[in-house]
Amino acid sequence: MLRFWTLLVRTLAAGALATVAFAAWADDAEEGRDHYVLLCSKCHGNISEDALSWRPEALFHQAVTMPLGPPLTGVYGREAGTMPNYPYSNAFKAAIENPWAWDEDSLDGWLLSTQDFIRGSTMFLKVEDDAIRAQVIAYLKKYAQYKPE
Ligand code: HEC
Repeated sequence: MLRFWTLLVRTLAAGALATVAFAAWADDAEEGRDHYVLLCSKCHGNISEDALSWRPEALFHQAVTMPLGPPLTGVYGREAGTMPNYPYSNAFKAAIENPWAWDEDSLDGWLLSTQDFIRGSTMFLKVEDDAIRAQVIAYLKKYAQYKPE
């Protein structure tokens, strides 16, 4: 009988833990959305199922004031520097001669300091807060399945 209760308690505890872990992941992505809008969307546009291709004509008016980045919908898991028709900097093009796909580690390093990651890139950003980087990455990950046309 004692064993039964032990088992029951363990099962409930595991279920509760799994729920907490999932809720934390969902929250990260949710918080990440707010940071993304504030920190990234001005240059990269919004993440959405419609924004799958690089459409310079739609974004031209913004290009006058800031260096536009490639759309980031589906960037998680995508090979770096492969957005069709996007004019990557020479520094970025040189870096991807040793290709990598964007994952948690590479995105974390990139966002911590883009210039330490690729010196001479046209993206200048340092997100020093570990939690904010993790949340933005969780948000990008949520849209990993959408790929550019
Ligand atoms: C001031 C404009 C600007 C802001 C703000 C900005 N970026 Fe960028 N981003 C760029 C540019 C420009 C590039 C292209 C870099 C190059 O070619 O060297 C780029 C490239 C990237 C890439 C590489 C994409 C690929 O196709 O491999 C990622 C990932 C990225 N940015 C993520 C982010 C995230 C996440 C944020 C917000 C936390 C952000 N960027 C904020 C301008 C910006």
